[in-house]
Amino acid sequence: MTSNTDAKTNPEPDAERDERVQQRDPQAAIDAQSEHRRAELDERIFEHSAGDQQEGVPFVGAGPGDPRLLTVAGKELLEAADLVVHAGSLVNSELLDAYCAQADLVNSVGKDLEELIPLMRDAYEDGETVVRLHSGDPAIYGAALEQMDALEHEGVPTYFVPGVTSAFAASATLRTQLTLNEVANHVAITRPQGKTLTEDEDHISEFVGMGDVTTCIYLGTHAVRDTMGRLLEDGHDPETPVAVVYHASWPDEDVIVGTIETIADQVEDAGYRASALVLIGDAVTGAGYERSFLYGDWANRGSERTSD
Ligand SMILES: C[S@@+](CC[C@H](N)C(=O)[O-])C[C@H]1O[C@@H](n2cnc3c(N)ncnc32)[C@H](O)[C@@H]1O
Repeated sequence: MTSNTDAKTNPEPDAERDERVQQRDPQAAIDAQSEHRRAELDERIFEHSAGDQQEGVPFVGAGPGDPRLLTVAGKELLEAADLVVHAGSLVNSELLDAYCAQADLVNSVGKDLEELIPLMRDAYEDGETVVRLHSGDPAIYGAALEQMDALEHEGVPTYFVPGVTSAFAASATLRTQLTLNEVANHVAITRPQGKTLTEDEDHISEFVGMGDVTTCIYLGTHAVRDTMGRLLEDGHDPETPVAVVYHASWPDEDVIVGTIETIADQVEDAGYRASALVLIGDAVTGAGYERSFLYGDWANRGSERTSD
């Protein structure tokens, strides 16, 4: 590394500086890591499984809010951390108080990759134990991989530690299953059109139209009226059940149950604009399902059967 004195007496040539800056550009790092991925599989895939503690910076899922819904692996990593970079208001401060008392805490909200990557890299290179804490599960609308790629590109290994995603907390609160025999055979995890998705990329109407899908909408609390309006325009049954679970598993959790026709008014009356999960489909009520084939004669017939 060049010291300040060296830099003054021996200035870095422009081309070298440009190349170094470009190497550290997050998009260049993402592109380079994608190239690696296309060329060969990362051998760590075959060496570790999801719960293993590994070398590097873990990207930990904090779960939906209740500190008790953090995994044991996540808790152990947080308790050992010197630096925790967390997802701000989506991570319950009770969880930070309970498990990160020894660590320096940095809220990632409002910080871009150019700030976050050097922060985590420098701490890691200084020998600190660094944890990146995402809400829910980092694999769902977490923008984790771009941080991991940027760190890996700079020689800092990273790995995922899964968490309970908010759709699972919401279904537990609603005392239902997202898949339910004869009611919902599929689950769609999705988000509505807006800054990130164009109108054409919004598939909520298609999922609802399939009939046997439970549609779980993340990042869509502010857009409930628009979303329901589009569903009505597209001719979906206005009586289709919809639940909005605000802050699932937090002390101020709130549940609103209505239909495609009613839910927008209900959510607006409650005043929620963020931090809720919107679930659409008959599985929301848990009504009308048939017994499964899991128990009894069907499951026992022919122990030679090995398929699900
Ligand atoms: C950036 S996404 C992160 C999702 C997170 N990775 C997960 O797996 O739950 C944020 C969105 O997740 C949903 N969300 C997160 N925590 C929630 C909770 N406790 N209850 C309801 N929805 C939640 C909301 O829709 C929010 O807009």
